Amino acid sequence: MRLAQHGDAGSFDCVAAFALRSSYFAQDDRVKQLMPMIKAVRGTRDLLPPETALWNFVEAAVRDVFCAYNFHEIRTPIFEHTQLFSRSVGEETDIVAKEMYTWEDRGRAQSDQGQSLTLRPENTAGVVRAYIEHKLWDRGLSKLYYIGPQFRRERPQKGRYRQFYQIGAEVIGPATAGSESPARDAEILELLATLLDRLGIKDWTLELNSIGCANDRAAYNEALRKALEPVAPQMCVDCQRRAVTNPLRVFDCKVPEDQAIIEKLPRISEFLDEPCRQHFEQVKEILKSVGVEFQLNDRLVRGLDYYTRTAFEFTHGALGAQNAILGGGRYDGLSEALGGPAAPGIGFAIGEDRLVLALSESAEGVLRKPDVYVAPLGAGMNKDAARLARELRRHDIVVELGDESFRLKKSLETASKLGAKYALIAGENELSTGVFALKNLATGEQKAVPRTELARAIQG
Ligand code: HAM
Repeated sequence: MRLAQHGDAGSFDCVAAFALRSSYFAQDDRVKQLMPMIKAVRGTRDLLPPETALWNFVEAAVRDVFCAYNFHEIRTPIFEHTQLFSRSVGEETDIVAKEMYTWEDRGRAQSDQGQSLTLRPENTAGVVRAYIEHKLWDRGLSKLYYIGPQFRRERPQKGRYRQFYQIGAEVIGPATAGSESPARDAEILELLATLLDRLGIKDWTLELNSIGCANDRAAYNEALRKALEPVAPQMCVDCQRRAVTNPLRVFDCKVPEDQAIIEKLPRISEFLDEPCRQHFEQVKEILKSVGVEFQLNDRLVRGLDYYTRTAFEFTHGALGAQNAILGGGRYDGLSEALGGPAAPGIGFAIGEDRLVLALSESAEGVLRKPDVYVAPLGAGMNKDAARLARELRRHDIVVELGDESFRLKKSLETASKLGAKYALIAGENELSTGVFALKNLATGEQKAVPRTELARAIQG
């Protein structure tokens, strides 16, 4: 063997790397103990099996329901220009003011000015940006859904994470395509009721409000400003600022001492103009006719600035403090605010983490266990067992494959532990005769089955 020599650059690197690795592995346990363990970032979490089976079960059901309502999937990037969120969600909202993960992103060139980017805290803004960028209005009404992670720097607790998942949908398009119709609002709400029912989630409450259009909002904001003027000095600093800059956001305040003041403020329901009132009446009428129950809540204004008219939340008692399982509403001026054409829209986002928490279904209940455990018996049998497993998997049979180093007892124990229905023994004898021992692990019954009939026997 030729050892590396001075000037032999490539080999020198190899030798150095080898020396480093050797010294790492040679560390005694005391040194290793000093090595700090790296954990998931606070507010983020790993989703592990079997729980992931529950997530997949939810997502498969959701995709089915979206399909039945003729929605199609959209995938947008998980980071966007910061301005997209400040212009849509609103500067004064908790999300933009306190919770976004924002960074200055500089390119590789020295001359690069850099740009402010943000991990998406929600996805309506991204979808509307994509709608404008790809001129989706040419297609009439767009009915889009998404499933994916969002990021908010909130205080973590049960049901509230810094990386969480939303299942959302947006219906957006030119008014001529029917995007402004109360029928769209009612259809979205009926879809959500269907979806929750399909998942077996029963004790939900739909809270419904109309927060009016830009005209109503101007009058309402003025009334709020007036009402807040004498009381704002007794409120928290955030509310003192909101009272001047964006009085509607006072309703996002969580400070207990401010609640008595907030309770006495004017209500948006008194400020709706005739078209908004009628729009809301029609939404309610359709909901009644399709049998979707709701509760009116004229304090529900939602924590994002883009909303107009219909606003809603579904709450669920079992979720504790974070009881909003989903929220949404109309955003008729959002496209224009982002530089696009008029494109009324309505949508929602379900907190998938909370949806999974509210499920009565257990992960074990939806987990697909192996149909068969193929046990190679004896040295040299791995390759034949692999061929057998490949044949069975082609028949949509879930196969777990053992190892030739296992004794029969260990294979059978492993198969039982995995919850497999059958164990299939692949020894030299079986391969030469073409007849295999198929053991039903629940009953203990064992049958001799020819190779060509194995799939049918397992599926039967
Ligand atoms: P949102 O109310 O901010 O609305 O969020 C929707 C849902 O996401 C909440 O009801 C909750 O279930 C879940 N969620 C929010 N923050 C967290 C968190 N930190 N941890 C776990 N779950 C959370 C929106 O995001 C709007 N984009 C919805 C929408 C779509 N409006 C119109 N179209």
